[in-house]
Amino acid sequence: MRMYDLIMKKRNGGELYEEEIRYFVEGYTKGTIPDYQVSALMMAVFFQKMTAQETAALTMAMAHSGDMLDLSAIRGIKVDKHSTGGVGDKTSLALTPMVAACGIPVAKMSGRGLGHTGGTIDKLESFPGFTTALSTEQFIENVNKIGIAIMGQTADLAPADKKLYALRDVTATVDNMSLIASSIMSKKLAAGADAIVLDVKTGSGAFMKEEQDARALAEEMVRIGVHAGRKTVAVISDMDQPLGYAVGNALEVKEAIDTLNGHGPADFVELCLTLGSQMLLAGGMAETEEEARKKLQKVINDGSALKKLAEFVEAQGGDSRAVYDTELLPKAELIQPIPAPASGYVSRIVCDEVGICSLILGGGRETKESEIDLAVGLVLCKKVGDYVQMGEPLAMMHANDPEKASQASERFLAACTISAAPPVARPLIKAILS
Ligand code: URA
Repeated sequence: MRMYDLIMKKRNGGELYEEEIRYFVEGYTKGTIPDYQVSALMMAVFFQKMTAQETAALTMAMAHSGDMLDLSAIRGIKVDKHSTGGVGDKTSLALTPMVAACGIPVAKMSGRGLGHTGGTIDKLESFPGFTTALSTEQFIENVNKIGIAIMGQTADLAPADKKLYALRDVTATVDNMSLIASSIMSKKLAAGADAIVLDVKTGSGAFMKEEQDARALAEEMVRIGVHAGRKTVAVISDMDQPLGYAVGNALEVKEAIDTLNGHGPADFVELCLTLGSQMLLAGGMAETEEEARKKLQKVINDGSALKKLAEFVEAQGGDSRAVYDTELLPKAELIQPIPAPASGYVSRIVCDEVGICSLILGGGRETKESEIDLAVGLVLCKKVGDYVQMGEPLAMMHANDPEKASQASERFLAACTISAAPPVARPLIKAILS
């Protein structure tokens, strides 16, 4: 087999066989096929697309390119949750302790920030001392002991995806449905959960801007998961404005803690209850959605979800006092309002632009090596549909550098539209596919 022939076949619109896909994935992982040939193939895939069979074959080849985690030593049905990425998406921070407090064992593999989107691991590192570098044994032990553990993607888990993702990131080949579906599902399958709940985002802050593309991605991932013998559910949710109010690592941790204290923003709470219900149903902890919602609400009201978060943070080396006293989280030096330039209804907040504002402030990585500033970001004061008076703050900016603050403020204002008439509301939950 020759890589050249595979590139040519795909470039001309042909369908790759399973063994051809396995050949390039194995060769690329081992380093016998160079970046430039795989880049050419990724670009050909971007334009010519992949069939459902090719996507499934690519997923399985990437999943098997490294270790397949065996979680059978963990008691109960392990349910994983994955978001396709968004702005202000701190769902895992609140949702995992909620479902763990309801009895679902959470053995989760999470990622760092990607482009304009944030990552759970970066956010969790806002707890001083917190680490996700756990051995598999420690990971399993923590889940059995306290019901929850989160680790980073190890070098041995779907290494083909790790390499391919880094290549796609710099060759403008990320936003292809088959490549995203196989990237996410290869990691989820290798991470060993029995059931997978996917949060597929759509809107200006998501990789899939159009709802029909998000739906196609969700259908593809559900098909792959079911084919691999895992119960898989996808929720399609809105990401056309940031989720909740906070964007930025420590700021999002604080908002997740507020939520576990019963003071969460309405959209964020609703998403947690929707995804959490699907997790409880998949894990056999509830018979109906109504029962699941009641259980989730109960662990917020009685404080057990917050306590679970503290146990989890402590078990992974973090300072759990910050769960009860958010003043201990990293704090920015400059906290300043971004005033509205006019009165009217906030009719649009271009969501990926808000993610970029947080990046400008230092809350994300410009390069793989960049250190991130956990304290910085934005907290919206108004969401889409709210009325604002001229001069009232649209958001509060948390910054450590005045120059970056003025750049981010300008960009944020350019991302907001204020209109005389209220906008048409977009539903948060668009569909649930299983
Ligand atoms: N998240 C992933 O893990 N992979 C993608 O390709 C896109 C989002």
